[in-house]
Amino acid sequence: MTAVVRRKALITGAAGGMGRACAYLFGATCDLVLSDVSQDRLDAFAKELRDAGHTVVAHAGDMMDAAHLSALASELDADRPCSVIHTAGLSPSLADWQAIMKVNLVATEMLMQALEPVLAPGSVVVPIASMAGHMMPAIADIDALLVDPLADHFIQGIGAAVEAMGGAGGDVGKRGVSYSLSKRGVHLLTYRRAIAWGPRGVRVVSISPGVIHTPMGLAENEKTPGARETMDAAALGRIGTPMDIAMAARFLCSDEAGYITATDLKVDGGSTEVVAAQRG
Ligand SMILES: NC(=O)c1ccc[n+]([C@@H]2O[C@H](COP(=O)([O-])OP(=O)(O)OC[C@H]3O[C@@H](n4cnc5c(N)ncnc54)[C@H](O)[C@@H]3O)[C@@H](O)[C@H]2O)c1
Repeated sequence: MTAVVRRKALITGAAGGMGRACAYLFGATCDLVLSDVSQDRLDAFAKELRDAGHTVVAHAGDMMDAAHLSALASELDADRPCSVIHTAGLSPSLADWQAIMKVNLVATEMLMQALEPVLAPGSVVVPIASMAGHMMPAIADIDALLVDPLADHFIQGIGAAVEAMGGAGGDVGKRGVSYSLSKRGVHLLTYRRAIAWGPRGVRVVSISPGVIHTPMGLAENEKTPGARETMDAAALGRIGTPMDIAMAARFLCSDEAGYITATDLKVDGGSTEVVAAQRG
């Protein structure tokens, strides 16, 4: 009997709120490759999934570690399409501005570079961005920095922009600006990679969540000024669930989304537009 070869799904940040939901959903039809910086939470979650019958390979590691990214890439097969849902990230209440920029943007670009050789035709990459990236206006000089996060002195250059735009708000202001810029950078990276990889049959579509009921979303609601107002702005009148994001990711990775690439999908209950209208 020949075993049916299933698609692989690589999920980063798999021990977090959205990562867990994605693992449950994609695990129903895919072999899972999971990653998170938290070894304990990842191991416990991988065991839970295996006990439920899922096929799981788990690698604990930091997304800023090139060796970890190589290990993840080596789990994928260059002749077998895969889905990549990249949820690992940091928000303003969790880290300083530099760590936010490095994990959210620099590591995302490093992941793309590591995966490039193993993305078979039919593969789909879904980086998780944020509605915050849509709140950041396009400023040509800053975009010129954001499109090349692996450039020498990137952190120094973008640090000047973070200081100029958020410095008046002190550390909190800089964290918020860094988060928004990092997520705008993820949008730009998505468009760039999608254009480059389209001819080989690989799609790249980012998702921009609104406020989602995860450890990160709840921490932001509690600690970051303005976050609760953003959640309350959702036209649909509720906070998003991790499964809202996982289901959007599953659609984007499906054949039904086969002509969607080089774009960002807001999964925010309408928050971005409501906030934009409120700000005039
Ligand atoms: N929750 C929200 O309201 C919200 C809103 C907009 C965007 N987002 C974005 O969605 C993504 C997922 O967020 P979430 O709400 O599931 O957060 P979460 O904190 O629940 O999960 C994130 C996971 O990423 C892991 N992680 C953090 N730094 C890492 C690193 N350096 N290397 C490897 N793993 C690392 C954490 O250990 C955690 O398990 C993030 O990119 C976040 O910025 C979240």
